[in-house]
Amino acid sequence: MGKPLKIAINTGGGDAPGLNAVIEAVVRSAYNRQYEVYGIRNGYSGLLDTDEIIHLAPEKVRHIASQGGTILGTTNKGNPFHMPFTNMAGEVEYRDVSNRVVENFRRLGFDCLIAIGGDGSLKIAHDFHKKGIPVIGVPKTIDNDLAATEITFGFDTAVSIATEALDRLHSTAKSHERVMVVEVMGRTAGWIALNSGLSGAADVILIPEIPFEIEKVCNHIMGGELHGQHYAIVVVAEGAAPIAGNVIHKGEGEAGRQEVVLGGIGEYVAREISKRTGKDTRSLVLGHLQRGGSPTTFDRRLALRFGASAVRMIGAKKFGVMVALVSPDVKAIPLEKVIGQVKHVPLHGDTIQTARDIGISFGD
Ligand code: F6P
Repeated sequence: MGKPLKIAINTGGGDAPGLNAVIEAVVRSAYNRQYEVYGIRNGYSGLLDTDEIIHLAPEKVRHIASQGGTILGTTNKGNPFHMPFTNMAGEVEYRDVSNRVVENFRRLGFDCLIAIGGDGSLKIAHDFHKKGIPVIGVPKTIDNDLAATEITFGFDTAVSIATEALDRLHSTAKSHERVMVVEVMGRTAGWIALNSGLSGAADVILIPEIPFEIEKVCNHIMGGELHGQHYAIVVVAEGAAPIAGNVIHKGEGEAGRQEVVLGGIGEYVAREISKRTGKDTRSLVLGHLQRGGSPTTFDRRLALRFGASAVRMIGAKKFGVMVALVSPDVKAIPLEKVIGQVKHVPLHGDTIQTARDIGISFGD
């Protein structure tokens, strides 16, 4: 018998409920094919400093599918092609340390890498594929904004948490006859806001795909007053912006991070509503609550399917691809067709239409 195939696996970018389910499925499917799986800590950091590489035996991952987070750790700052270092003068400079990753990968005798991540991590995975590492990407993000896959795991959990929050806010908003403005995640896509707003009976949903007019938001709320509804729920995606305004972000972000940190639009919208309508208004940011905790059963199943498919693709020697849900199957899509593209909410899709039909305003 030859030497067993050695799979390295890592998780990169922001965590999403379902990451551990992918890891469990990979390890258990690999074990049944006599492959070995090794966990790389914190994205690619574990291939720069290789002390903490862990052999993942099936007993180590038993039933971790139900747990949130990732047992491997993750980071959204560790791009080996553009790694930040602080020099002697205290300034941040960037270096390409990708060759060290490739050398360590080879020295440790790995045959392929399963990289679980969002767009940024999949781009890094693709760059390593071009440098000769056989890679399979597994898409993850609560934002659901990755191209080629119908849905990403983590999204259903985030929508469920946001919906539960909206359900709870109805009673307090009603008791105080207040407007509650809830800011949810999603970056430049409005999937979480749209789907939680629809299922949580929001009055107004503001998403990046539909620039809004604050005047129209206020008119809609005051229109409710005329019909005896003295409270309102407004869901705002963190990437939403008024027609005559910009997306609000929190400064320049951290060194090595590819994207700026969004946030603040909920507070802005609440301030404007209060000023223009005179109604008692409060805002809250759901933030990382949307990413924490156990994945829903939908996310677990999708993540398990992605993990097992990734191992089947290794068996079929299909590399440089990402697993994707193309219902009813999980398919392999070339990474180059996926990266750098954002899947936005379709403006004429059935979900937007449904929301409009039942009287939800998009502030347009
Ligand atoms: O991409 C997932 C996400 O949760 C976005 O919705 C959000 O803008 C961002 O990550 C937050 O990043 P961090 O965890 O670094 O604050």
